[in-house]
Amino acid sequence: MTEEMSPIETAKYVAARRAAEFVQDGMRVGLGTGSTAAWMVRRLGERVRDDGLRIKGVPTSTATAQLAREVGIEVVSLDQAGWLDLTIDGADEFDGEFNLIKGGGAALLQEKIVATASDQMIVIADAGKEVETLGAFPLPVEVIPFGWQTTRTLIEEALDTLDVLGTSVTLRMNGEVPRVTDESNHILDLHLKRIGNARQLALVLNQIPGVVENGLFIDICDKVVIGHGDGRVELRDLNDGTVETDQPGENGENLFSDLTD
Ligand code: A5P
Repeated sequence: MTEEMSPIETAKYVAARRAAEFVQDGMRVGLGTGSTAAWMVRRLGERVRDDGLRIKGVPTSTATAQLAREVGIEVVSLDQAGWLDLTIDGADEFDGEFNLIKGGGAALLQEKIVATASDQMIVIADAGKEVETLGAFPLPVEVIPFGWQTTRTLIEEALDTLDVLGTSVTLRMNGEVPRVTDESNHILDLHLKRIGNARQLALVLNQIPGVVENGLFIDICDKVVIGHGDGRVELRDLNDGTVETDQPGENGENLFSDLTD
């Protein structure tokens, strides 16, 4: 089965699996959304089933909630959990200061609330998500449906005054109709190409009426676990400045044991 995995999928898989090791018995864990986070949720499900790991999971989307339940994780709401020990989530881009663009899966609002309510956030990503400067990936912004075209105009006007290269803004579609988020909102994708000052942009966007939240995660992520297509995993910690690399199959472990029947 592993022969069928592309290098990118392998990278996501090994990063997710390594990050799941940070979850300890009794923790309240934020469960991210997206294809990388889904591997992490499956891995935690295995640990619950096989090792008796006891955790409470707070999902960041209806899709993640469904997967978490399917794999046997106890799912609670953020308000039930109160505060979280750890959130593990994917990202669309991360830079050298661990600032992120998220929301490619339209779940940025719940993702940001959950990550912010956590002692620690770990991002899991394939190596291709690392950038010097954020912005090549279109920045998702969640807006309320009422007056969304006016909100778009206000965003475009604001972008003209900011340090970005592109200013085009598109409504994310789901076929013929606008994509609707879990909170019944729309997503505007900002094609900025390069974001000179992410902190300023995030603040300005959230001042615009109609904007619910933007996909810039500034000063939220503590650690990044980067997977490579050959199975190598790199762990970078922002707080203590350390970088560790695990080689594939170190300690004789078969990284893909759960995929081979
Ligand atoms: C979901 O809204 C996003 O923030 C995802 O975390 C991000 O798009 C990464 O997704 P993949 O792991 O599927 O690349």
